[in-house]
Amino acid sequence: MSDEKSQVYDEVRRRYSRAATQCCAAPAESCCSTSEAPDLVGPSLGCGDPISRAGLQAGQDILDLGCGAGGDVIRAALIVGPEGLVYGLDMTDEMLKLAQVNKQKAGARNVVFVKGTMESIPLPDESVDVVISNCVINLSPDKDSALREIHRVLRPGGRLAVHDTVSSAPVPGQVQADSSLWSACISGSMEVTEYEERLRNAGLEAASVDVEQWYGAEISGAPGLKIGAAFVSARKPFPGAAGGARPAEGARGDLQVTGAGPARIRAAGAGDLPQVLGLLTSAGLPRDGVEEQFNHFLVTEGPDGAVSGAVGLEVYGSQGLLRSLCVKPEERGKGTGARLVEAVTAEAMAAGCSELYLLTTTADKYFERHGFARMERASVDGPVLQSIEFVSACPKTAVVMLKSLTRCCCSTD
Ligand SMILES: C[S@@+](CC[C@H](N)C(=O)[O-])C[C@H]1O[C@@H](n2cnc3c(N)ncnc32)[C@H](O)[C@@H]1O
Repeated sequence: MSDEKSQVYDEVRRRYSRAATQCCAAPAESCCSTSEAPDLVGPSLGCGDPISRAGLQAGQDILDLGCGAGGDVIRAALIVGPEGLVYGLDMTDEMLKLAQVNKQKAGARNVVFVKGTMESIPLPDESVDVVISNCVINLSPDKDSALREIHRVLRPGGRLAVHDTVSSAPVPGQVQADSSLWSACISGSMEVTEYEERLRNAGLEAASVDVEQWYGAEISGAPGLKIGAAFVSARKPFPGAAGGARPAEGARGDLQVTGAGPARIRAAGAGDLPQVLGLLTSAGLPRDGVEEQFNHFLVTEGPDGAVSGAVGLEVYGSQGLLRSLCVKPEERGKGTGARLVEAVTAEAMAAGCSELYLLTTTADKYFERHGFARMERASVDGPVLQSIEFVSACPKTAVVMLKSLTRCCCSTD
C-alpha cells in the first residue's frame, strides 16, 4: 500500500475510534442516544438514510459497510426479520464494541458484527442480497477494490443501496492530500459521473447516483467546490441475462431464489432446537450442551423451509469452539457446510475470538480445507478446556484442530 493510502487509513481509523470513545464518555443526551433510536448507544455519523430507500425485505441477507455503532444494522435486522441475517462490517474495535452493546440492547439475534475493511470483505462470494452503507465508501483510498468486493459478495440480482458524499467538481490535489478532510468525508468524495462509471467498471449495472442535498461551500476546503449527500444504487447482473433481465420464476422480493441455489443462513431461534437436535442425532454428533449454547447457533433452511444444516459456536474469552456442524444428507454437495463454516468463523471473530478450536473424529480432512490445522491435545491451554466437548462429550481420541482468527484489517497490500 502506498504511503498516502496508509496515511488515509490511519487517519480514518483514528478519527472514528476517537468518535466512538468520546461519544460514550459524553453525557447520554448528546451523541450517545439519538432521537431516532433512543435506546441505542453511539454516534450516528451517516449522511442519509439508506434503509428508507433500500427496499429491504423480510428474509434477505444484508451487509452494512462501515456500520459504526450499528444503528442501521439494527434497523435492517428488524425489517429482514428472523429469516434474514444482517452483517455489520467496521474496521475499528471501538465502533464494533458499541455495535455489540446495541445488538444486546436490541436483543437482535439475526445480526453478526465483523471486523474488517470494505476493501477486503471477510465474507464468502455471493453471500448477501443487499449491501447498504451510510457515508463510508467516500472514506476509502482504494474505491475500486471496495466496489469489486461489493460485487463479489452480492448474489446475482443483489443490490447496492447506500448513502454517500459526492462532489460538485473534481476534488483538487491539496484537498485530497489533507487526511483530516479525507476522514471528514470530504476529500474522497467522487463526482456523480465518476461514481457511476466506477460502479459499472466493478461489474454493477443500473448504476444511479441521486444527489439529495448540497452542503454549504464553506465545508469543502476549496473555493467553488461543493460536497453533497447522494443515494447511490446499482445491481449485480444475473449471469447471462442480457441487460440484467431477471429470470421470472421464484423471485423473492427483488431477488431470484431457486431451490437448487445455496441455502440461506440465519441465526437459530428457540423453535429450531428440536430439528437441530434431530439432525445431530442422525449425524451421530453429541447433543450435550447444545441447548445451553443455542444462542450462538446458525442454521440453514432447505427449500421446504425445514432446517437443513446447523453449526454452533461456544465462546470462552478469546477462544471459540466450533461444534455440531451438520447438513442433511440430501443437502450435501451444495456448499452448505462450507458456508456454515465461513459464517460461524465470522461470528467467532465478531465475538472477539482470536482462536477457533474444534474436535472431530471423522472430518479432519474436511476442516483442513477450511483453514484448520491439527494440533496435539496436550498443547491446548486456556478456558476452552472447560467446554463439554473437551471434558466429556467427545472421545479422547478425537482430533483437535485450530484456526487462528487474528487478521490485520489493513494488511491489504
Ligand atoms: C462516517 S462513519 C459512518 C458510520 C455509520 N455508517 C453511521 O451511519 O453512523 C464511517 C464508519 O466507517 C468505518 N470505516 C471507514 N473506513 C472503513 C473501511 N475501509 N473499511 C471498513 N470500515 C471503515 C469507520 O470506522 C466508521 O465507523
